[in-house]
Formats: sequence, C-alpha cells, structure tokens
Amino acid sequence: MAKSAARTSPPKARTAYVCSECGADHGKWQGQCGECGAWNTLSEFVIEPAAAAKAGPASRRSGWAGKADAPKVTALKDVRHSEDARVSTGIGELDRVLGGGLVEGAVVLVGGDPGIGKSTLLLQAVARMAPTLPALYVTGEESLAQVAGRAARLDLPLDGLQALAETGIEIILEHAAVSRPKLIVADSVQTLWTESLTAAPGSVSQVRESAARLVRYAKETGTAVFLVGHVTKEGGIAGPRVLEHMVDAVLYFEGESGSRFRVLRAFKNRFGAVNELGVFAMGDKGLKEVPNPSAIFLSGGSTPQPGSCVMVTREGTRPLLVEVQALVDASPLSNPRRVAVGLEQNRLAMLLAVLHRHGGIVVGDQDVFVNVVGGIRVQETAADLPVLLAVLSSLQDRPLPDKTVAFGEIGLSGEIRPVPNGEERLREAATHGFKRAIVPKANAPKSGAFKGLEVIAVERLSQALESVQP
Ligand code: TYD
Ligand code: MG
Repeated sequence: MAKSAARTSPPKARTAYVCSECGADHGKWQGQCGECGAWNTLSEFVIEPAAAAKAGPASRRSGWAGKADAPKVTALKDVRHSEDARVSTGIGELDRVLGGGLVEGAVVLVGGDPGIGKSTLLLQAVARMAPTLPALYVTGEESLAQVAGRAARLDLPLDGLQALAETGIEIILEHAAVSRPKLIVADSVQTLWTESLTAAPGSVSQVRESAARLVRYAKETGTAVFLVGHVTKEGGIAGPRVLEHMVDAVLYFEGESGSRFRVLRAFKNRFGAVNELGVFAMGDKGLKEVPNPSAIFLSGGSTPQPGSCVMVTREGTRPLLVEVQALVDASPLSNPRRVAVGLEQNRLAMLLAVLHRHGGIVVGDQDVFVNVVGGIRVQETAADLPVLLAVLSSLQDRPLPDKTVAFGEIGLSGEIRPVPNGEERLREAATHGFKRAIVPKANAPKSGAFKGLEVIAVERLSQALESVQP
C-alpha cells in the first residue's frame, strides 16, 4: 500500500549544477567541473520533471507486457525513412557548408563573435528561402524596425517572411503553432528564456532549456531551425557549448575584424562533411559569396618578406592558398612565449622541438609567434612544413625565395610525410603563378610536371631547410 502511494506521488523538481563547458551534471556546486576540469563553469539548473516522464514510461513499468502502449523494438532495416530532402538556401556557400542545402527538421547553430555578420547572413538566407519555405524570423536583440531597415538596405525580397520580436519561448512556440512556418530563425539563442525555470534569462540553464524546446519542436513538426549564438570556438563567456550536443549542425563564422572576408565552417554536421568552408565578403550590400576563394588569404605584398611562407591547404573540397607568418624574437623571459593564432598551440611547440632536434636550429631562447593571415584557422598537418620555413626565415631575417609555396606534415623523427591531394595542391599553386614548391617526396608528381613550377621533393626536415638557403 505504502509502496504504491510512493509510486504515484508527483516527482519532485531537482537542482543540478551544470558545467557550461561540457554540459556535465553535478549534484552539488563545486569550483571545478569534475568531468572536464574547467574552473567556475558550474551554474544552478532546476530540472523540472517532464510531463511525459510522469505519465509515460513510469506507469508502463508496472507490467506493460501485451498492452497496446508497450514500447516497440523495431528491426532497424524495417524503419521507413526518406532521403534527406534538401532545400537550397539560395546562398551557394551556405549550402556547401550545410552539405548541399538545408534538411527538413534540422537544427543548425550558427556561432561566432558579435558583429561578425550572423544576423546579416541569416536574414539574407531566409529572405531568399521564404518564397518557397515560409519562414519566421524571431529577433530578441533587435527591434522589428531595425530588422526591416536592414532588409530594405540590402534590397531583400520579403514575401513569405514573418517576423516576431520576442524572447519567451512559450510565446514563440504558440505563434509558430498558429503560423506554421517551415523555417524558424532564433536570433539569438542567448536571449531566449522559458517560464518553467526560475533562473535569470541569459543563464546557461535558460539557454539550454529554451534551445531544447526549439529542438523538440523542430523534430516534432519537421520545421528547420537556425539558432544564432554568440559562441566563440573557445566557448567564451556567453558560450554554452552544451548546445553543440543538442543540434544537428554547428557552423562557426570566423574572420578578422579588420578584414572583410568571413569564413563559415562546419564544426559538426549530421547531414554532411565537416571542415567544408564557405567564404564570404562583407560589403555595403551585406555578405557576398566568394565562390573562388583560392588566393584571398595572401597578404598581397609584392616583395617577399622575412617570416612569411605561402602554403596550399585543402579545407573541405577546395585547395586554398594561405600565408603563414612567423615572428621570432629574442625573449626577455626565462620561459619564452610560443603563440599560435589560427593554428594549434601544442603542435607549434612540438614542431619547434623537431626543428631543434632534427634541423639543428635553436629557438629555445626566442619568443615565437605564428599567425595565419586573414583570420582563418588551418587544422590540417600540411601546415607543419610552412610553419617551420616561416620560423626559419624570421630567425635568419631572410625572405624565402620569391614565389615559393610549401606543404607537408612533419613527424617526430624529422621525416616529411605526404598529405592528401598533393597534385591538386600543386596545380593550384601553378595556376597562381608560383615558381617553386617544397613538398613531401611522396607528393611529387610521378610523371610530367606543372608548367613553370619547379617541384622540390624532400624526405627529411634538414633537406627542406637546406633547399631555402642561398
Ligand atoms: P551582424 O549581422 O549584425 O552581426 P552579428 O549578428 O554576428 O552580431 O553584422 C554586423 C556587422 O556587419 C556590422 O559591424 C556592420 C557590418 N555590415 C556591413 O558591413 N554591411 C552590411 O550591409 C551590413 C548589414 C552589416
Ligand atoms: Mg546579430
């Protein structure tokens, strides 16, 4: 008797402490997250028992065998599904990053620093899609007049586009239930809040719960959702990285504040490849696509400078010429600085150790700064060789030979390893008028050559360093 009474009493709300970095749940507050080790990232979160959880599985648990509402296990091969139907966003570079267009019911988080152009991009995209895909643009940061003013300035067609200035998720979903859009943009997710939590709007728990509601709505109705988030890749103060687990795709908008070029990169995509890049230029008419971005990340100086090396990277499905810069300077510190911008910090430290051990070049008493021009990030190991050539060039204060490109991975024993798509990279360099390429031996063309491009194939780091000495 007592037992069954306990079973029917309503479940209580529980307080959890959730890490804003990794999303781990803790029973009590602590200064450091026990899962990911981050400091001061836990915040209070009241977890309300969901209505479904009260009535659903708990009641079934008392002997559902043979009943109609028994949970079903299905052979996966019998599950009916359709090919992901994709809708073009009307912006080729955005389609490319999404993996060929927007999928019905997909939830896409677009992150990036404030002012990078997230609102502009999404307004342009929904305006182009709205005639075929009725859209609801929810703005929590700007007034409707501001959004309309921007749309007018950008000459955007506004047919089929509804707008709502609102931050309460319950009200937003009520409106959506009435107007039944096929696409919702929530700008930004940081402004959303739900009545069911007492935490302050903007807190991690509010953002997480509001986003979860939208995700649920998207899956139930097949509505595609774009969430805008002021989320930098590092997580940042406003960055509830917890959202990344809940959504289907995470796109980051990158770029230097001084440069008009912007790069959109897929960081996670359930419907396509990651690391595909979309390139845009910000102008007075909003964002324009750069469908052929291959040479925009070169600094463009006519005379070669010490500390600079051009590499051919291959991000996604396109080769890209990118300039890597290094500055090596005598350090006043007992622990000299190693700073990498656009590259991985630990990889730089490793490369400098290989340079010392297998190239005989000492930088232990020097500060080393390495930067990728244009504010983009190079994640592939093909950057290893160009980084060390740039470091050597800065250390010796001597430019690399004019019109030189390089790429190649460097191993811990000083060997130069091949990278994928070598020939395609060389062809790109030749097309842009480069005269010599320092590349891994296995990437050198087996037969024939590229017009006007001398290929210097190297197997060891020492060979590569010698090849740039006069
Ligand atoms: P915005 O889309 O508001 O950034 P976010 O939503 O990521 O915070 O973009 C703001 C910046 O873009 C702003 O600094 C001005 C610039 N911009 C242009 O240069 N041209 C334009 O046509 C527009 C609309 C914005
Ligand atoms: Mg904005």
